[in-house]
Amino acid sequence: MLKGKRILVGVTGGIAAYKSAELVRQLVRKRATVHVVMTEGAQHFITPMTMQTLSGNPVGTSLWDLTHESKIGHIDLARDVDVMVVAPATANFIAKAANGIADDLLSTVMLATTVPIVFAPGMNKSMWDNPITRRNVATLKELRHITVVGPDAGELACGEEGNGRMSDPVTILDAVIYAARTEKDLAGEKVLISAGPTIEDIDPVRFLSNRSSGKMGLAMAREARSRGAEVTLVLGPTSRTIPWGVQTIKVRSASEMHAAVTDHARDAQVVIMTAAVADFSPSRTLTEKLKKEKAKSVPLLLEPTTDILRELGNQKGRKQFLVGFAAESQRILTNAKKKLKEKSLDLIVANDITNPHAGFSADTNIVRVIDRKGHTDEWPLLPKWEVSRRLFDTIQQKRAAAPSSRKRTTRSRSGGGGSRGTSSRGGSRSTSRGGSRKPKADAATENAAPAKQTATKPAPSKPATTKPEPKPET
Ligand code: CTP
Repeated sequence: MLKGKRILVGVTGGIAAYKSAELVRQLVRKRATVHVVMTEGAQHFITPMTMQTLSGNPVGTSLWDLTHESKIGHIDLARDVDVMVVAPATANFIAKAANGIADDLLSTVMLATTVPIVFAPGMNKSMWDNPITRRNVATLKELRHITVVGPDAGELACGEEGNGRMSDPVTILDAVIYAARTEKDLAGEKVLISAGPTIEDIDPVRFLSNRSSGKMGLAMAREARSRGAEVTLVLGPTSRTIPWGVQTIKVRSASEMHAAVTDHARDAQVVIMTAAVADFSPSRTLTEKLKKEKAKSVPLLLEPTTDILRELGNQKGRKQFLVGFAAESQRILTNAKKKLKEKSLDLIVANDITNPHAGFSADTNIVRVIDRKGHTDEWPLLPKWEVSRRLFDTIQQKRAAAPSSRKRTTRSRSGGGGSRGTSSRGGSRSTSRGGSRKPKADAATENAAPAKQTATKPAPSKPATTKPEPKPET
């Protein structure tokens, strides 16, 4: 993801400095070249040796270190990176940054650099709430090349609760990936993505759901955001980390997902339904727990939910690009093509859920991508982030090829990394071969008569929404 990118990690003197070691590890795992500069305060919390070992490069600690200066030099450090990230950024460092004070290596490099800078503040709640800190942060946020991530609310190292926790390294990583990406081919566009499972309640303790982890949809949301889109994510219950910079609407049931998706679909130029939406829901949800003494067997009547994607397909305008996913266990291509046609989609992504590397919860996927003309691309086993990247490449190509009214801001992507290819590159192949594995369970076999207990089907509760932090386009 960050192959060929040079990232400078600045670490300042806060307890969250230990988390920046994980950030460095994650950056290296994403194949970035990482340099670390630590303030004197940071070295009280974590050693330069740790950072040197993790980054694989010498760590800068002083402006007056003759060896480091002669080998790398603070001006070269400032120039020769693609992104700088300060994590944690203490109140003191933020104050220096906002006022142009350069009195140590890190603050000097920061003042000398023109590359995007990501700040991840981490401090005590009172320090964060202090109007002076807020003013300094506001000053930084006004600058186009600066992005501030977090801080998050929660338990702080000082024992207090509140805002001030440095964001998790994976969230900071999202912001770094965003900042490192110079080509924002979805800038100014709205992308709506659904992800995760839905939960259909039977009674206050029991429910029907499925094995979706939401990973594919989260990867799609992260990719869309890094390309500059304004992303709305309608997310079923999952424990996965929500991507940074994405407006997230948390839902529980298929009917809540239907309401949230419908609310946001009209404005979106691209809509992608990766969610594993329940096809059936109990016709009644019991208000009290069903007691086992009451019945030897429990009849459960299920009724169909709305097919959200089909409804979107029926309503979509010419400018919208609609993508569905097909979770199949048999006759994959035939079934996926049928869904593509019946739901009026522009593209469908089919995967064989019986393959452990391609099904729910896996970090990888093996997909076949079918367009309206029936052209099929088969991609090899890929990490889900790579599938997302290729899918957006494909979506952008198809949109660019469609009548000009569909696409507002298409820019051609540079050849760059070899792994960025679409169907014609990177090991994918075009074919129309189908597959046949084990038969899919029939949901209808679980239907039966309703339970006796008094029951009501509650109206869907209002889904929780988290807004992304406002941030400048770089
Ligand atoms: N989908 C939806 N609303 C539903 C069910 C599915 O929007 N109630 C969407 C999914 O998000 C996915 C596509 O439709 O993008 C295909 O879903 P899938 O579960 O593969 O197939 P179904 O249409 O539900 O049909 P079946 O379960 O019979 O395969």
